[in-house]
Amino acid sequence: MSLLVDNIGELTTHGPQGTLTAAALVVQDGTVAWTGPAGAAPAADRRIDAGGGAVIPGFVDSHTHLVFAGDRAAEFAARMAGEPYTGGGIRTTVAATRAATDAELRAGLARRYTEALRQGTTTIEVKSGYGLDVAGEVRLLRLAGEVTGETTFLGAHVVPAGTGAAEYVSLVTGDMLAAAAPYARWVDVFCERGAFDVDQARTVLRAGMAAGLLPRIHANQLHPGGGVALAVELGAASADHCTHLSTSDIDALAGSGTVATLLPGAEFSTRSPYPDAAALLRAGAVVALATDCNPGSSYTTSMALCIALGVREMGMSPAQALWSATAGGARALRRDDVGHLGIGARADLVVLDAPSHLHLAYRPGVPLVRTVLHNGTPVPTATDGTVAGTTTAPPPGRPGAYPSGAWT
Ligand code: NIG
Ligand code: FE
Repeated sequence: MSLLVDNIGELTTHGPQGTLTAAALVVQDGTVAWTGPAGAAPAADRRIDAGGGAVIPGFVDSHTHLVFAGDRAAEFAARMAGEPYTGGGIRTTVAATRAATDAELRAGLARRYTEALRQGTTTIEVKSGYGLDVAGEVRLLRLAGEVTGETTFLGAHVVPAGTGAAEYVSLVTGDMLAAAAPYARWVDVFCERGAFDVDQARTVLRAGMAAGLLPRIHANQLHPGGGVALAVELGAASADHCTHLSTSDIDALAGSGTVATLLPGAEFSTRSPYPDAAALLRAGAVVALATDCNPGSSYTTSMALCIALGVREMGMSPAQALWSATAGGARALRRDDVGHLGIGARADLVVLDAPSHLHLAYRPGVPLVRTVLHNGTPVPTATDGTVAGTTTAPPPGRPGAYPSGAWT
């Protein structure tokens, strides 16, 4: 099956072709087969008219906590009235999640996953971390695995009430890891005052690596500390948050293969200072943007919001922010098949109801996503289940005759 995306005003590939105007793109069997000038495209079975809008790679959200139950809106309201965020609310979500049935968790996960996909997120990482016992963590990872291959074991999110830290680290690195590892690609730890210190975090990540998982870390979110240095020491794919960085943290990231993943939704929702993306970029670090979607510190699935905050608050150009939300996220997940639209990439893309990518930050809060292709297949973006902007292809030899109608 081939599909032509035609009449593209601005095509951002993040590949060798760079950015094209007046462009078209052809998908063949789920991957990008051709990009070039509109009008020069090879024939295809089906066609989408981009209407002169911009086309960008699908967003890669490399950091979410999408499986949970309960609501912490009151905690958010209290913060907006001046309460600080401490991370202690994680235990509130653990209690609600433990009390929920599989069906309830699956329904909440599906709702948030669909919400993200409709807004253009075509690759998503999902963490456990609200079970904090062996069966609970495995349950969350199994559910996460129903929507993504990018699953992360975060048994070391906080120490559950009633348990000693040393005893809990032994459980996380012992029975819990053994049970969770078959369902996870990644291992993560919340390295922070009140959660796990650097030595405990190193123990957790090393154990995960010995079990075949790849390391990533919640580092330097609420305070300066050794989390980022640990990420670099262990060759972690990503150090996430990076809100409080020293000059040596920035230099260490710049000289490493570890991506700095910034989560501005968390700073927005906890009324905290934003990380300095510009300083990281100046130093030469690879920067990703992700949502951190979770019910406590950042309850958003909107990568467009993260782009807008990156531009408005963190010193990124719109082009840098878009790269970080797509190719940067892919780097943070060690993926080369997504985050760009080079030939051979997975055909994950977003058609915007806007002439250029600048509008993602220029028009904050506006639903600009017109059509999403995931694995080359249009996904419903409208709440009535229809796919915007799709038509069937004309019969060969009759260009221009495009009857409109629902995707079939
Ligand atoms: O990434 N920092 C730790 N974990 C989450 C917050 C989770 C919560 O508050 O429930 C985060 O911000
Ligand atoms: Fe997080």
